[in-house]
Amino acid sequence: MQPFDTVIRNARVVTAADIFSSDIGIRDGRIAALGLDLAAGLTEIDAAGRHVTPGGIDSHVHFDQPTGDGLVMADDFSSGTRSAACGGTTTVIPFACQQKGQTLRAAVDDYHRRAGDKPVIDYAFHLIVTDPTPEVLREELPALIAEGYTSFKIYMTYDALKLNDREILETLSVARREGAMVMLHAENSDCIAWLTERLLAAGLDAPRYHATSRPMLVEREATHRAIALAELVDVPILIVHVSGREAIEQIRWAQSLGLKVYAETCPQYLFLTADSLGCDDGFDGAKCICSPPPRDAANQRIIWDGLENGSFEIFSSDHAPFRFDGPDGKKAHGEQASFDKVANGIPGVETRMALLWSEGVRTGRITAQSFVALTSTNAAKMYGLYPRKGSIAIGTDADLVIWDEGQTVHLTNAMLHHNVDYTPYAGMQLTAWPAMTLSRGEVVWNGEPQGQAGRGRFLACERPAPAQVRRRQTELPL
Ligand code: URP
Ligand code: ZN
Ligand code: ZN
Repeated sequence: MQPFDTVIRNARVVTAADIFSSDIGIRDGRIAALGLDLAAGLTEIDAAGRHVTPGGIDSHVHFDQPTGDGLVMADDFSSGTRSAACGGTTTVIPFACQQKGQTLRAAVDDYHRRAGDKPVIDYAFHLIVTDPTPEVLREELPALIAEGYTSFKIYMTYDALKLNDREILETLSVARREGAMVMLHAENSDCIAWLTERLLAAGLDAPRYHATSRPMLVEREATHRAIALAELVDVPILIVHVSGREAIEQIRWAQSLGLKVYAETCPQYLFLTADSLGCDDGFDGAKCICSPPPRDAANQRIIWDGLENGSFEIFSSDHAPFRFDGPDGKKAHGEQASFDKVANGIPGVETRMALLWSEGVRTGRITAQSFVALTSTNAAKMYGLYPRKGSIAIGTDADLVIWDEGQTVHLTNAMLHHNVDYTPYAGMQLTAWPAMTLSRGEVVWNGEPQGQAGRGRFLACERPAPAQVRRRQTELPL
């Protein structure tokens, strides 16, 4: 028998279901054996006393996404995937965004060019549908779903991206027919525009008014509407970046009716509040401008509750990286720019896993198994990568994180590997950090970044598992 390439010894293996003590034998990039006292490997890694989890799947990141308006994302597929790997993530799913007037195919081709030979870890693409012409709906979208782009995002806000309700219905109905997963950015665009106009007219234009312009009711209303549209079409949906109570109430209400409505949340809704956008009129708060905005301490607790009680399937970063200083990031329109001109989004691909392990698992708020489900397994199932990704089992890709725990990690931007000049989480004291990340059996982080650019592979996604997309019976001719 060929020896193992690598054996990880005496691991405390965590999956979404179990924790057990085991060695992990790796051959040809896959897990070849689990058990105690495995035969020797060409490389031996001692994990005695350490938790080993599946590599993270960050299913909501933005790398090198064309944005228009003179803005440039700070991370491309090279720095973005390297940063992800250093934070324990082994698969990312960024977005190929259709520009209005562009074909979906052109958007996908462009995004493959951008990825090129840069990725350090494996990656798939979600689509963003912004221009659902009859051609897109009839030909392009079904063809791309069949080719492995099985999930797409719809925006209910941002002029350059949003669909109206009729367009959303048409697009959802393609998802239903083709078995794709739809992600919805739920905020009421007209309410935001109306409020923004009034705030600016009153001279209230500092970064902190970004939060005032997007109160929770705009998220609640759009979440409810998204659920209603999906119920009408009888198709599952996933509401992304849920920020607090009012949206969760809508989602739980839908779930209680048996509707397949899934939800995602992100670190910014656990660790930031609207005060992070500033308590005075200074520009520093622009660093934390993202949409929906972070809320308050009470809503942070409600998000924690949702992670504990199963309201959320997915904990992603929504890494949307813009530099604070420089001509093409948060200050692209100057330091006096009104909040509506500031790039939306914050970095977080490298900190996501450690934040949740440290502040969720080690504080006893969530179990280690829930951590795995939220950061990896559920995304693999939802987006058609399971069981190859998201698990620790014989035959799966050897995408693994070995954890360091118990020592205080003082979080600074200097220790991160993204190309952003700040982290919103600077100053936090964490008690966990990935000691080692393996991607298909190869060490890509061991205290230093290791993976070669270009070693990451594109993953064509299957359609989501049937349990994820099971539909109700409907009398309507859909
Ligand atoms: O502010 C955010 N979240 N920017 C990223 C784009 C998005 O809507 O996810
Ligand atoms: Zn969004
Ligand atoms: Zn996003």
